[in-house]
Amino acid sequence: MAADRHTTTTAPAPAPPSAPATSPAPATVPGSATGPATASAAAQGVAAGRVCLGEPQLWAAAAGSGCAVAVAHPNIALIKYWGKRDEEWVLPAADSLSLTLDVFPTTTGVRLAPQAAGDRVLLGGQEATGPAQARVADFLHLVRELAGRREPAVVDSRNTVPTGAGLASSASGFAALAVAAAAAYGLAADPAALSRLARRGSGSACRSLFGGFAQWHAALDAGGGAAADRVSLAEPVPAAAGLEVALVIVVVNAGPKAVSSRAAMRRTVATSPLYRPWVASSVQDLTQMRAALAAGDLNAVGEITERNALGMHATMLAARPAVRYLAPASLTALDAVLALRERGLAAYATMDAGPNVKVLCAAGQASQVAAALREAVPQASVVVARPGPGARLVAGDGR
Ligand code: PMV
Repeated sequence: MAADRHTTTTAPAPAPPSAPATSPAPATVPGSATGPATASAAAQGVAAGRVCLGEPQLWAAAAGSGCAVAVAHPNIALIKYWGKRDEEWVLPAADSLSLTLDVFPTTTGVRLAPQAAGDRVLLGGQEATGPAQARVADFLHLVRELAGRREPAVVDSRNTVPTGAGLASSASGFAALAVAAAAAYGLAADPAALSRLARRGSGSACRSLFGGFAQWHAALDAGGGAAADRVSLAEPVPAAAGLEVALVIVVVNAGPKAVSSRAAMRRTVATSPLYRPWVASSVQDLTQMRAALAAGDLNAVGEITERNALGMHATMLAARPAVRYLAPASLTALDAVLALRERGLAAYATMDAGPNVKVLCAAGQASQVAAALREAVPQASVVVARPGPGARLVAGDGR
């Protein structure tokens, strides 16, 4: 792959069943003031039928007309979410903790279409059909229930990250959709409520509402269903001021994964003898991670990150049948990370539901780490990411 950036369509997995939710607390739609975002992303070409993304003057015209545009960035978990305890409400088995990135934003416009027969979904400029359309339509249905509205909508979403490759496109995708849809339907929702809402689209999306480090609370004490729904959301996590990190992303394969994370999680939970022990160790990892972030201890943050991810992949390898996302080039990248550590650099790997490897390191050493990884895995595309902003509205109602 030649380029460091990719533009692809979102191709979400099959739609989850929609279910009623409790109303988010009223407040204002959030914004992060710091985003690099994205007038330019939003200003990508406007073809007929694309309704919100376009020139800024169109956004101004959109205000008050049931149209909103939001931008969100992907997040990569340092303590992974892997497995649900309640599929319908998207409640996880354990807490997770992530870093929101400053690369690969998703820009999503939502416009109400009162005259339309149903929801229309454009992903990367292409009309979505089948499960991809249904997953977005189910999410809009949930927003309509919460807002007490009925009108269908047109959704226009553009990713700048390979979709379905374990690069968190569903996190940025559903975070942006939650913010834009809530604004377009006039649903008053604060960041916590939007985090809960995004969770229903894709679990990891709840963390992309926030910039930097964020923890998704499993809310085990609340049990399941609607009671846990109210409190299972993400919150920002403070880190020591001196902790300046980068995440070097090694894209060894940008193609979509063979097994969706939803299906792989389900299989792991149901069949892997290693799953429960990993969840137990993940709970300890999270406590230690919070302490390491507060202390600004990059080596501890990295060690916990790497062992948590390797443990997650071990649970999948022990599933029946096994789920294996790591490819030969992933292992080459892992070897290169080990070699970097032997040279004295603080570099630690994490991997998600795909073959791509992300390497946590000191911001000041990111170009050295990236160069070593480019040399070790010459066929990969290597992107250096830094902590990025939370999801925010960039145009339309609710600003
Ligand atoms: O939110 P989902 O269903 O795409 O699951 C994400 C799972 C991992 O990326 C592997 C881990 C995580 O916490 O993001």
